[in-house]
This record gives sequence, C-alpha cells and structure tokens, in this order.
Amino acid sequence: MYTFKEISDRIEAEVEQLRFPYSPESLYTPIEYILSLGGKRVRPALTLIGCNIFNDSVEDSVQAALALEVFHNFTLLHDDLMDQADIRRGQPTVHRKWDANTAILSGDAMLIVAYRLITEIRNPQTPLFIKLFSDMALEICGGQQYDMKFENRTDVTEEEYLEMIRLKTAVLLGTALKIGALSGGATPEQADLLYEYGINIGLAFQLKDDLLDTYGDAATFGKNIGGDILCNKKTYLLINALQMATAAQYTELLNWMDKKQFNPEEKIRAVRSVYDELNIQRLCENKIESYYKNAQEILQSPLLPQGRLSVLSEVSNKLMFRES
Ligand code: IPE
Ligand code: IPE
Ligand code: MG
Ligand code: MG
Ligand code: MG
Repeated sequence: MYTFKEISDRIEAEVEQLRFPYSPESLYTPIEYILSLGGKRVRPALTLIGCNIFNDSVEDSVQAALALEVFHNFTLLHDDLMDQADIRRGQPTVHRKWDANTAILSGDAMLIVAYRLITEIRNPQTPLFIKLFSDMALEICGGQQYDMKFENRTDVTEEEYLEMIRLKTAVLLGTALKIGALSGGATPEQADLLYEYGINIGLAFQLKDDLLDTYGDAATFGKNIGGDILCNKKTYLLINALQMATAAQYTELLNWMDKKQFNPEEKIRAVRSVYDELNIQRLCENKIESYYKNAQEILQSPLLPQGRLSVLSEVSNKLMFRES
C-alpha cells in the first residue's frame, strides 16, 4: 500500500505534468497560476487512497484524481469572484491578479478540461464516473446558490446550513472517494459507504473552514481572515450566534449585517467578540468532532477491508486538526 507521502508526491508530480495550450496565453496562464499555488490536494488524495484500499496499484484512479483537482480549482476561481476574496493560498486571487472576466472564462475552461479528463478515462465504468461527476457538479452549483442567497437572510436554520455545505463542499469529497474506490474494484456497497464517510468528513471540513475563516491565522490559512463576516455569510458560527444571542447581542449583529458603509476591521472585531462572548468556537469544534466520529463509525463496517484503511484515517485526522 502507498503511504500518504507517496500519494501526495504522486499527485504533485501529476499536476505538474498537466499541459495546456500556449495560446491564448491569457486563458491558460491563470489556470497554470492557480494550479501552481498548491493547496492541500485533498480531493485527488482521497481518490487515490480510495483506489488503493481495494487495489495495490493506484494507476487506474490517477486521471479521475486530476479531473477532480482541476474541477475543484475551477470552483475556487468562481467562488473567489462571488465572495470578493482577494487572497487564496497566500497569493492574489485570479480575479484580483487579472480581472473578473478572466476568472469566469479560465474557470469555464478548467471545468471543460476536468470533464475531458473524466470522459477520456479508459475504464468500462467511465459512463458511471461521468454520471457521478455530473451529479456532484450540479449539486455544488446548488450549494453555491444557497450560500449566496443566505447572505441576504437572517433566519437561516442550522438544518438549511448543513444542507448547503453538504452540497457546496461535502459531495466533492464523497465523490472523490467513491470514484477512487470504484476504480480500484470496490463493490457498489463499499463505494457507497466510502461516499457516506466522505460526506461526514466533508461536513466537518467545511465547519472547520468556517471556523478558520474567523479564528485562523492568515499566514497559514492563506486567505484573509474575516471574509465570511464581511459578506454576512450564514456560517455555523453566525447562525448559532443569532440563535443564542441576548437581545442586545442580537441587535448588534443585525446592525452590523445591515450596515452598507463600515470599517472592515471594526466589523470583524465586533462580530467576533459576540462569538467570543457566546463561546461559539467551542460549539463549532463540538460539531466538527461529532461528524468526525460519525465518519469513524462508518469506517468500522465489516464490509470494508479493515487492514487497508489506515491512510484514509490518517488523512481525515490531519484535516480535522489542520490550520490551513
Ligand atoms: C477550499 O478548499 C474550499 C472549501 C471547500 C472550503 P480547500 O481548503 O481544500 O482549498 P485548497 O485546495 O487546499 O487550497
Ligand atoms: C467553498 O466555500 C465552496 C466552493 C468553493 C464550492 P467557501 O467560500 O467557504 O471556500 P473558501 O473559504 O473561499 O475557500
Ligand atoms: Mg469563498
Ligand atoms: Mg463561497
Ligand atoms: Mg470559507
């Protein structure tokens, strides 16, 4: 079996070997730029690991892994435009370094490249992979739409939030594992279990992302801290703060959400101090822990080859305790 280091090195080497046409330069340079900035490469790692659980070789999953990483990076180009984010992976976002149209069009091209990679996989299961990929991609669009719509609401429930993050984030992790597992020879039941595992890890992953967006360190997180607060994102933190707030705290949060003109630092500080007063960080950590536990339970199924799950557990563990 591959170690996590071997999996990571393989992905890095494969991403580096991706080749794009020379022209138009302004279409492809931003693609090479975002892919060269690295990131955690979680999704392709899950694909290779999923494959390796059932197969000593990961070869049959490499192309799907690449497709998923290119697809993920496409979503980031559009997401940063939608979220007005200036920094990603410690560097200027594509729409800041170039412009909005570049982020749109280079993103579109990446989506197409990802599809081409998936459709050209030489495997009898390719039609199924295309279906899984398409269903997942459409779910992400749905999640992103909810995410934006929720910015303008103050009554988003925890349940609505959880469904939104399942769509925008968790299905990609689940699908990455599932396609990897099927590539390696998993039965449909085994692949579905790993999908459910991926969903739980994915929910915990987005909760952690929300937490780091307010409480992380910009230098390690690679994104500006407080972006979610500035956009009035209905994160787990804000939804629970609104729920638990005293009348005075509630009014303060609502006032900040209503303000059109404000000093960004001041808004971030004020909202975060309400979170602090309510100990929201702790609440979020507990929720992360509960999804992580769900995931671990799924992994104990007798249907899965118990002796081959250690790298998957290792990666999930790393994700829960990450600071980046
Ligand atoms: C960012 O994903 C988008 C979310 C779903 C939170 P990652 O945190 O995996 O970003 P990179 O690829 O490591 O930069
Ligand atoms: C990311 O959600 C979901 C997708 C990119 C589809 P976020 O907006 O929280 O991701 P970051 O924080 O910008 O990476
Ligand atoms: Mg964003
Ligand atoms: Mg977003
Ligand atoms: Mg975020």
